[in-house]
Amino acid sequence: MSIQEKIQELTELRNEAMMGGGEKRIIAQHRKGKYTARERIDKILDEGSFEEFDMFVSHRCIDFGLDEEQYLSDGVITGYGTIDGRLVYIFSQDFTVFGGSLSEMYAAKICKVMDMAMKVGAPVIGINDSGGARIQEGVKSLGGYADIFQRNVLASGVIPQISAVFGPCAGGAVYSPALTDFIIMSKSTGYMFITGPKVVKTVTGEVVTDEELGGAFVHSSKSGVCHFVADNEDEGIMVIRKLLSYMPQNNLEDPPLYPCNDPIDRVDDNLNEIIPDNPNKPYDIVDVIDSIVDNGEFLEVHSNYAQNIVVGFAKMNGSPVGIVANQPDYLAGVLDINASRKGARFVRFCDAFNIPIITLVDVPGYLPGTAQEYGGIIIHGAKLLYAYAEATVPKITVILRKAYGGAYDVMGSKHLRGDLNYAWPSAEISVMGPKGAIEVLYFREIRDIEDPKAKAKFIAEKEAEYREKFATPYEAAKYGYIDDVIEPRNTRFRIIRALQSLSTKKDTNPPKKHSNIPL
Ligand code: HXC
Repeated sequence: MSIQEKIQELTELRNEAMMGGGEKRIIAQHRKGKYTARERIDKILDEGSFEEFDMFVSHRCIDFGLDEEQYLSDGVITGYGTIDGRLVYIFSQDFTVFGGSLSEMYAAKICKVMDMAMKVGAPVIGINDSGGARIQEGVKSLGGYADIFQRNVLASGVIPQISAVFGPCAGGAVYSPALTDFIIMSKSTGYMFITGPKVVKTVTGEVVTDEELGGAFVHSSKSGVCHFVADNEDEGIMVIRKLLSYMPQNNLEDPPLYPCNDPIDRVDDNLNEIIPDNPNKPYDIVDVIDSIVDNGEFLEVHSNYAQNIVVGFAKMNGSPVGIVANQPDYLAGVLDINASRKGARFVRFCDAFNIPIITLVDVPGYLPGTAQEYGGIIIHGAKLLYAYAEATVPKITVILRKAYGGAYDVMGSKHLRGDLNYAWPSAEISVMGPKGAIEVLYFREIRDIEDPKAKAKFIAEKEAEYREKFATPYEAAKYGYIDDVIEPRNTRFRIIRALQSLSTKKDTNPPKKHSNIPL
């Protein structure tokens, strides 16, 4: 063969690989409203930046007639490229080849990019669209999954890992995305479950659709498995790119710095008015977040799940920060099991990747009751506490209104190594709210007053007394638990100054094999 013929052969092989499982299956993929694996990569990465690995890999299975059915690339496209000029590794499952099912060689391709990403310290993006283990390959496929899981775990906290679920993701296949940092699902085409509706019907008799069992809505609002729901793949791709913009390449680097055109000393008079006079009236904490961060840009994570706590990424003076905030507008911002898990996971992500944490507190406490106790609020609530206590990144806390009971301790308090703790003048920092406190302290007196008017007067007086003493920031400030009481309108520049002062912060935890967070 001449060199020209050899080059021609290469071109033909490349063209063959580009066609995945063939034209008919590509058309079927498009008809379902899905992009192909290669189209997804092209849309995620900077134009022309993709460098592919292992295009010529094919499976090694000879059972069930598979020796007669070979597709170059074997159902997953892998390689690296850039997003906004920053290196990322990527794999994209190709549903047109055996339904994107995972074979031994397919798994080896994914492992290769993960190993490379770890060596150079760059994020990994995985696009899931697969019927799970390739049934014809049996245990080799199962082994392949476990090889990937092992790498997911070793990479956890070292490089950011992001999963998109743009098609089926079933069986044990769900556990690789579950081990990564963030999951983005596309509405109506992405679904995840450990067993599909047919198996569910056989085992439990329950009749359920794909969507009801594991669609994006279910996982973003009920299970909390999914962090972002996208209306379509294009939106999902934008989320991936945006999300990465807040992250460093790996745990040894700081997040990138961006130019900031929003004045750092911008004050917002509206914040002085935002806390209602009635302490039981809600307001939307997202309005406060939007007001203090650069250009009001806030990427909320888990926005449909445990809405009593808000978490997400923003920038302050061009520096990425993670924001954790109680949401008075939903269940009064109470901490329950789901809110604690959601907050803890986010705090730990930020800490792992050197992203400072800003905490905005307005919390009436942990949610009491049998449902929470039976569900293990003690253990789950401890997760949030643990995450804050363990975190060594800069931690800045602002108490806006209520900081009651254990929730005061947990939400980035000074006692959990909070670096700079501020309070608005409207802050109420105490063991519990005045009403609950008076009912406990004066239980007998209240019981023994027979005249209802006199009883009401007594309660009102005692509540006022308690409020004056404890429902202010000054009692905490007296002991240095609050570094300063700040005017709400100045919150943005006070936080930015605090961040600047903490930019060289160093703190450590004692050496250990690993911690034992209450799981
Ligand atoms: C081999 C598979 C396959 C699989 C699909 N295909 N899943 N081939 N192994 N797991 C093939 C089909 O034969 C078909 O081939 C093509 O992919 C497209 O599949 P369709 O069924 O036509 O597509 P659709 O109707 O869209 O349904 C998609 C699907 C369904 C919901 C994913 O294919 C399905 O239920 N697949 C099986 C899912 C499953 O049970 N997987 C194993 C899970 S257990 P042709 O040639 O017609 O194009 C598991 C254990 C892992 O994953 C444990 C790890 C720890």
